[in-house]
Amino acid sequence: MARIFSGIQPTGDKHIGNLLGAVRHWVAGQDLHDCLFCVVDLHSITVPVEPAALRTSTLSLATLLFAAGLDPERSTLYVQSHVSEHTELGWILNCTATMGELRRMTQFKDKSGGQESVSVGLFDYPVLQAADVLLYQAGLVPVGEDQRQHLELMRDIAIRFNGRYGETFVVPEAQIPPTGARIVDLQEPTKKMSTTGGTEQGTLLLLDPPARIRKKIMSAVTDSDGVVRADAENKPGVTGLLALLSAVDGASVPQLEERYDGMGYGDFKKDVAESLIALLEPLQARHAELAADPGEVHRLLTVGAERARALAVPTIELVRERVGFAPRG
Ligand code: TYM
Repeated sequence: MARIFSGIQPTGDKHIGNLLGAVRHWVAGQDLHDCLFCVVDLHSITVPVEPAALRTSTLSLATLLFAAGLDPERSTLYVQSHVSEHTELGWILNCTATMGELRRMTQFKDKSGGQESVSVGLFDYPVLQAADVLLYQAGLVPVGEDQRQHLELMRDIAIRFNGRYGETFVVPEAQIPPTGARIVDLQEPTKKMSTTGGTEQGTLLLLDPPARIRKKIMSAVTDSDGVVRADAENKPGVTGLLALLSAVDGASVPQLEERYDGMGYGDFKKDVAESLIALLEPLQARHAELAADPGEVHRLLTVGAERARALAVPTIELVRERVGFAPRG
């Protein structure tokens, strides 16, 4: 059984892009693969974050992921900082990755642009991400489109390390879904949906109540042409809504264009909103139940970290030997 690994940052409210581009596929993968999923708090401190807020959001993200369908019996969900082997491998891989490679990362350019002070951690972010996956010898990494470049770098690092020190790591592959991999902001549809780089009104949060979802969808930017048709260049708003509905509903974009032929944007948007509400209803109900028992979520994360560490230790021992560290004691 192939092993899959993926991660998600605890900071920032989680949105429909996270679900459709990643988490939904993690849930679906649980029957087919040996799965590890990680709340990447070490990645979140690459930009300034309030300690109390980080603590709270780490637990609430884990609650949300269980509510979305991650099953602690079938998947290992844990917090990155609970398994210190991530940072150890991150350091070792720092000595394999190059400055030139990291400088080319578009996410770094986007996140660091215009900032007065940028942490070394933000620059080094993709190397820690490589360590996350390589530590577990995972073969598949289900992610949204925005992670493609980080996955390419991860593969290059693994291949270089294997070449230099002998076969050590499985070289992982990105698993990017055919629909939902890049959900766009509803107000600025040329940008991806994001709680850090997007607009508030254009970002659909997983815990938004139905009335707010309706409002955000009904006020989504469209155009004056009145035809429900995909055209990324001239109709980015309608194209984004079609991609969103296609990811939720399962119908292809051409099928949706046919379904809405001759209908106005109002009716189309109503259907988009109702399909999202129906998708999120069970998740929100389950979230309310789980949030009432934070002790249980904490317990599940402790079990998850123990399982993850048991898998991480053999890899880190192999890596230590490969790079030539003297054995301890
Ligand atoms: P993060 O926390 O930004 O996002 C989590 C997942 O959601 C996907 N995603 C989207 N998919 C579709 N449309 C969008 N608008 C959208 N926005 C986000 C992301 O592609 C991601 O799959 N660097 C990673 C976390 C990470 C990781 C890892 C991932 C750390 N270590 C190891 C995979 C393997 C990140 O910041 O994801």
